[in-house]
Amino acid sequence: MRSHPFSTLLLTIALGIVAGCRDATGPGPVAVPATVPSEAHTEPPLPMDPHSHARPNEVRVFHAELDLTLDFEKRVIAGRATLHLRRIDPKASLWLDTLDLTIAKVTGEDGSARRHELGKRDELLGQPLRVDLKDGDDRVVIHYATSPEARALQWLTKEQTAGGKQPFLYTQGQAILTRSWVPLQDSPGVRMTYAARVRAPQGLRVVMSAGERGTDGAVFTFAMRDRIPPYLIALACGDLAFAPISARCGVFADPSVLAGAKQELGDMETMVQKCEQYFGAYRWGRYDVLIMPPAFPFGGMENPTLTFATPTILVGDKSQVALIAHELAHSWSGNLVTNATWRDFWLNEGFTVFLEQRIMELVFGKERAAMEIATGDAGLRKEIAELPAKDQVLHIDLTGRNPDDAMTAIAYDKGAAFLRRLEAVFGRDAMDRFLSAYFSAHAFQSITTETFLKFLDQHLLQSDPARKKKVDVHAWVFEPGLPKSMPELHPRGFAEVEAFRTAWLATGKMPADAKPGTWITHQWLHFLAGLQSDPDVLRRVDQRFGLASSPNGEIRSAFLTRALELHLFDFVSHTMDFVSQVGRRKLVLPLVKALMSHKDKSGEPHAREILVRFGPRFHFITRRSIEQLVDR
Ligand code: BES
Ligand code: ZN
Repeated sequence: MRSHPFSTLLLTIALGIVAGCRDATGPGPVAVPATVPSEAHTEPPLPMDPHSHARPNEVRVFHAELDLTLDFEKRVIAGRATLHLRRIDPKASLWLDTLDLTIAKVTGEDGSARRHELGKRDELLGQPLRVDLKDGDDRVVIHYATSPEARALQWLTKEQTAGGKQPFLYTQGQAILTRSWVPLQDSPGVRMTYAARVRAPQGLRVVMSAGERGTDGAVFTFAMRDRIPPYLIALACGDLAFAPISARCGVFADPSVLAGAKQELGDMETMVQKCEQYFGAYRWGRYDVLIMPPAFPFGGMENPTLTFATPTILVGDKSQVALIAHELAHSWSGNLVTNATWRDFWLNEGFTVFLEQRIMELVFGKERAAMEIATGDAGLRKEIAELPAKDQVLHIDLTGRNPDDAMTAIAYDKGAAFLRRLEAVFGRDAMDRFLSAYFSAHAFQSITTETFLKFLDQHLLQSDPARKKKVDVHAWVFEPGLPKSMPELHPRGFAEVEAFRTAWLATGKMPADAKPGTWITHQWLHFLAGLQSDPDVLRRVDQRFGLASSPNGEIRSAFLTRALELHLFDFVSHTMDFVSQVGRRKLVLPLVKALMSHKDKSGEPHAREILVRFGPRFHFITRRSIEQLVDR
């Protein structure tokens, strides 16, 4: 058990103040002083992380206290970070990661200055900040401000939000962007607790990835008492309302979308319970979801206690809840047990996709789960055909590269397929026992692929040497491509789609037993993927089913992508309409790719138009990905 020597004191303080500051719309806020001392933990040395300038094996940060002011006019976060240190080598300086931060001063706890130096700026990694410590320094205070272009921050005008009433700010730290808003040892192996006091303009609400959230007048206070990697420190601020879903689950959203969000996410508590039943207790207290403004570049981000989710999941029919299953699953794979370096990213995402698929099976049945798995596998095979061999391995070498390069179907779907293969060979019960043991043995730790493989061998493979022979672990983890034993699925729901497609295209009539009205997203995607490349067919599909204006972003993006690939530029206005509302990279990028795919370059002006008209509104991550396609 981890112990918190100050928790009794805190509780007393909290209970004393709580009556005065309870916010009726919030999930039981508690007033928390910004200072939450946390114990130094003795940990084994960390592996070398090529994506950080920090030297955590010499001096390690184990707790950060943030005292910050959000300035929407200047687009700057300014304040101070007090870092609690474990001095492993008492003579060593402290090395931190920063990216475009202005450092005003660095002091000891007593306010006296400490010598420090910002090193050379690397475009990807930023600038190292070296602080020379004095004997006995177990804390340093960094006074700093962010740049208006800080990569982790997106400042949105009120027009860019759903309700249009207030501006919005959010952070996105994964993989190596936290350093652009907090000076830290920004490596996923360096776990820390944090506490924060944040001042925001009147009328705005601040939320963070912390179980304890309170207000103290105009100041929002937070405490995360479990040690998390820096990329999970997250903040959002805007016109946010809250609706509870269960005692521990709820949703934050712009007031204009709150009711819809509550309805769409009604299964959250059931999902948490299923996870607990199979993978061990949910260890983070609350589980809330924050519905982001449309510009959010990802589907979801597993910030602990507070998943950030794209508003494109609010379709009205719960068709996108797998995304919530995914982010929730990260509460075990990723947040509880974290990749030690970005090379081990598949431990985060492969496990999470595997768990996500299991949750979907438990909540919505085998058939739906099978369709989701088959869709993932199809995407995986397609990506493998395009990726260089060195990027087809789970244990990918990312030295000198952007860790976002590892965000491919390899980490996600090949990782999950490997675990599915283990389950197929060893059986579900053994697999579940193994997973529970894995999560509890490595809880609140960051581990490497090697550590996982050793644990796998000891706790699953060796239990049955005959079965062990059936899984070529080395091929799965270190070799490109897919082992022949890769399980293949043929869901019934896809057979139905195929039969329908053939009959409808041949006769123009709907077969009597066909029910496209009941199809889930993955069936529509399968339907579209199997259509021949014939513009007339695509037009017929749209006339009959209206997919170009589907409220389901996945279907709409997939349809428009096919149309643009086939030079159907009368769908460009639908496309512009879509990208004016959605900034999610996964849905926008295929459209740009389709426009750039023509030998005659006829789509390029439209791709450029997307960049010029909507580029400034997109998040840096989406914009940069589009630029890479358009400015070749
Ligand atoms: N943690 C990822 C998002 C991420 C990965 C951000 C790497 C930055 C760097 C998140 O859990 C994720 O995988 N999101 C997916 C959702 C999906 C697979 C259901 C997304 O955003 O599309
Ligand atoms: Zn994920």
